[in-house]
Amino acid sequence: MTELTNVTEAKAIKVPTLPDAQTVTSVTHWTDRLFSFRVTRPASLRFRSGEFVMIGLMGEPHPGTGKVKPLLRAYSIASPSWDEELEFYSIKVQDGPLTSRLQHIQPGDEIILRPKPVGTLVHDALLPGKRLWFFATGTGFAPFASLLREPQTYEDYDEIVITHTCREAGELTYGAELIESLKGDELLNEVIGEGFWKKIKYYPTTTREESAKMGRITDLMRSGEAFADLGVAPLSPETDRAMICGNLAFNLELKEMLEGYGLVEGANSNPQHYVVEKAFLD
Ligand code: A2P
Repeated sequence: MTELTNVTEAKAIKVPTLPDAQTVTSVTHWTDRLFSFRVTRPASLRFRSGEFVMIGLMGEPHPGTGKVKPLLRAYSIASPSWDEELEFYSIKVQDGPLTSRLQHIQPGDEIILRPKPVGTLVHDALLPGKRLWFFATGTGFAPFASLLREPQTYEDYDEIVITHTCREAGELTYGAELIESLKGDELLNEVIGEGFWKKIKYYPTTTREESAKMGRITDLMRSGEAFADLGVAPLSPETDRAMICGNLAFNLELKEMLEGYGLVEGANSNPQHYVVEKAFLD
C-alpha cells in the first residue's frame, strides 16, 4: 500500500538551503560578549558528552569568482549526549570572521553543522578516580555544561569540582544558572538519583571585576586558597582526574601545574589522569 503524506504537513517542512543545515530554535544573550543558542539535532548524530563539532555559516562570496565557501569553527557541544537538541555557548568578537555574524542568528535561521563529533574532554580518556575537576575560563565552560548534565559524570565520581575564571561577573551567569538549574531538574534527579547535584563543588572567580572570589584559579591553587575554600586536598594522581578547557595561556599554565601534582595527560587511545582542549576564540 502506498503511504500518503498529509499535504499540509509536507508543506510545513522547511527545505534546508545550506549543506548540513540545522535550524536555530532559541538564542540567549548573556552579556555583550557572550551568547548561547540551541539548534535542531541531526537524527543520525551520536556524540559523547564533552566532544566538539564544526559549525558555522556560509562565508562571503569570493570577490573574483563569486564562489561561497562555508566558514566553520570548532565548537564544544554544551548540551549532553541525551538531549534532543544541540546547545552551543559562544563569544561575540565584533571583527571575528564568524562570530561577528553568528551573534545575530535568530530562531528559524539555519547554521551549518558538520556531524562529525571529536574531542578529548570525554570520560573515556580518563582512568577511574574519585574526584573529577573541570577547569574552565570564559567559553571554556561549554564542554562542562554538557558533562555536568551527563549521568556518567555522577556514576563515575564521588565529587565534581568545577572552577570557572572570567574577567567579569556577568560572564559567570551562564554557568551559574546552569548549575543552579540542576537542583530542580526532575528528569536528572530521577535518572541519576535524587540530590545528585550535591556532588558538585562550584568555584567561580573573576579577575577584572569585583565578585565573591577574585583571582585566577591558577594563583588561588598555588597559594592553597582554592583548596582551603573548597575543603579538598590538592590534586593527587591516586584520587583526582581533571579536564581543562580555556584560553591557550591558561591551558599551558594549568597543564604544568597538574603535571607538578603528578598527573599524566591522557587521550582517547591512552586514558590517564587529565585531558586538555582549547576553548574556541574568534
Ligand atoms: P586575566 O583577566 O588576569 O587575564 P580571556 O577572556 O582573555 O580568555 O580570559 C578569561 C579569564 O582567564 C580571565 O579571567 C583571565 O584572567 C584568565 N586567564 C588568562 N590567562 C590565564 C592563565 N595563564 N592562568 C589563569 N587564568 C588565566
